[in-house]
Amino acid sequence: MANRRVKKISIAMDGPAGSGKSTVARRIAAELGLLYIDTGAMYRGITLKALRQGISLYDETALGRLARETSLEFKEMPDGSQHLFMDGEDVSEEIRSMPVNDGVSLVAAVKEVRTALLEIQQKLGARGGVVMDGRDIGTVVLPRAEWKFFLTASSLERARRRWRELKAKGLNVSLAEIEANISRRDEIDSNRKVNPLRPAADAIHLDTTEMGIEEVVDWIKKKVGEGKTNASL
Ligand code: CDP
Repeated sequence: MANRRVKKISIAMDGPAGSGKSTVARRIAAELGLLYIDTGAMYRGITLKALRQGISLYDETALGRLARETSLEFKEMPDGSQHLFMDGEDVSEEIRSMPVNDGVSLVAAVKEVRTALLEIQQKLGARGGVVMDGRDIGTVVLPRAEWKFFLTASSLERARRRWRELKAKGLNVSLAEIEANISRRDEIDSNRKVNPLRPAADAIHLDTTEMGIEEVVDWIKKKVGEGKTNASL
């Protein structure tokens, strides 16, 4: 009898900031026994390091070098959450700060930075069994993922969600500040030359404006459970 190895499915989850993709991706991964990989955290890590070292976020050569020289690793914590370690340091909290929010899209627009991180992301996804979230997962990182979802929501709702999240963590930021940050990032992420925020041609779109997290998780689980992959839709 042939020795067939069952390859675990991979799920690509893309969308703009606050569309709910990371919360949903984390939940789906836990429920389906897949590994969750937050690619945005990696761009945030490089941004944090650049800010700490005083590197200009417009210096593409220096940013590219920084990305190539930086070690980025995800480690699972005892509570099941994934933390990002940059050069051995747990930076999971600091990468969510406002200075990083404000700078990350500039760093993510740099070709050499994307090339360096793409290599790590594709290695992590090579064996399947991942739920990866970001902006270019379905189009570039995992073009052959069995499932591709593209989540959206109105910009006001997305800003409200992010504001509630930060407030719950004790950060004192105004809704207006968050709205401005999100719309600026949307603009840069969608219009950059290299791998802009785009749904893959075979992605399944879901507008989550009026949906709660549970509802979105159930909707996606149902789709995946139906067993029709994107290719057969
Ligand atoms: O969680 P949120 O949607 O706010 O952002 P994120 O997923 O942490 O990503 C932060 C930023 O990294 C985005 O605004 C993009 O500029 C960049 N990014 C990217 O270019 N490509 C990815 N695959 C993931 C993130």
